[in-house]
Amino acid sequence: MKVRRCSILHLEPRERVEFNLAGLLAGSDGLVRRQHWVALAPHLGHEVGIDEAECMLLGRISPEAWTEAAAFAGDMRPLLRSLLHKGLVIARHRRHAAFRQQDEAMREGYWHPLAATFHAFTRWDDADAVQAMQETGTTTAAELRQQLGPPPSEAISRVEESEQVRLPTEADNAFDQLLARRVTCRNFDTARPLPLVLLSQLLGRVFGVRATERVTDDTVFLKKSSPSGGGLQPVEAYLLIRNVQGLADGAYHYQPMAHALEPLPGLTRPVAALMLDALAQQHWFADAHVLVALAPRYARNFWKYRHHAKAYRAVVLEAGHLSQTLYLSATDAGLGAYVTCAINEGLLEQAFGLDPMTEGVLAVCGFGWRSTEMVTMELDPAEQIWRAPGVDA
Ligand SMILES: Cc1cc2nc3c(=O)[nH]c(=O)nc-3n(C[C@H](O)[C@H](O)[C@H](O)COP(=O)(O)O)c2cc1C
Repeated sequence: MKVRRCSILHLEPRERVEFNLAGLLAGSDGLVRRQHWVALAPHLGHEVGIDEAECMLLGRISPEAWTEAAAFAGDMRPLLRSLLHKGLVIARHRRHAAFRQQDEAMREGYWHPLAATFHAFTRWDDADAVQAMQETGTTTAAELRQQLGPPPSEAISRVEESEQVRLPTEADNAFDQLLARRVTCRNFDTARPLPLVLLSQLLGRVFGVRATERVTDDTVFLKKSSPSGGGLQPVEAYLLIRNVQGLADGAYHYQPMAHALEPLPGLTRPVAALMLDALAQQHWFADAHVLVALAPRYARNFWKYRHHAKAYRAVVLEAGHLSQTLYLSATDAGLGAYVTCAINEGLLEQAFGLDPMTEGVLAVCGFGWRSTEMVTMELDPAEQIWRAPGVDA
């Protein structure tokens, strides 16, 4: 049987700290510290504990060339068996086909190794962001200040005030006013249906194709309202929709060439409950009429930027551009919008049928009618959306 090491692997030394009452009574600090190794292999999608001997053997197996397993004899034999069992060493044998296919998918994906590892191991499946804030006493700005002390200052100067070159100011125009009204919405009106035409306008403005650059029939670059590295526009929009006139609640994919929604069957639970869980219990966002999961097709970017140190960064930035265009489009239409990466992307990928390493969700945006009442705090010190009591006529 021939073997080779999995293609992408990072080994992390960790420390586990356990409380020990006997130690405390004997006069120590009561803490027992144990060092151990964790293997982070993105093709597996979960951490794997390994021992020092396994670490050393992993360092001796080529990730490219296939080697006869018999070459690892003696003490190495049980170690190799363990690493095969854990999916860190790949074998050509039929019995190990599942791990081999996962590893081959990684090889064909052109991921930069560090980006792949970061992407694979910063994902959530069942996080509760609200509970986490409550437990750490960091729900409000005042609590944050109390728990964490002051943050780094809000702005910095690199020269004395006298050396600053003051810039001229222009009178605000309609674009300034639009920018000023962009306030992250945490209060949506679940009772008011969203007209289909507003949904259509917004999706077209943010995700729609404005023009194409057709090099050959199989090589087409897209022009959209947001910039994209290499003009590749790899970020797909997957939607959870509820309370939109003329549309059944459910999961959809936006097809940007046709400006059409593609219904995705197979949701196993009500949309509202899925939205809440996907948003890690952030109920203030889960009330929005539309949730948009930004899911890049990484292979489209990595086709040009193979194993590139900046490729993943570019895709993350693109998600940010799309979210800002969505914010402004929603604001222009009189709607509220949000963006968050505190998400259980695993649940969304399951709902939309997406593989984490090829089409994994990066961030979530949403939009819908604003509520007339502010229950959850929004940052609107200029009172563009929410007028202070008594100020409004
Ligand atoms: C990348 C990103 C992630 C965010 N994640 C969250 C989030 O998880 N929960 C939330 O309530 N707001 C989230 N926000 C919204 C910010 O809290 C908000 O932008 C900030 O309070 C400033 O308010 P403004 O957008 O109205 O200017 C996020 C914003 C960005 C850009």
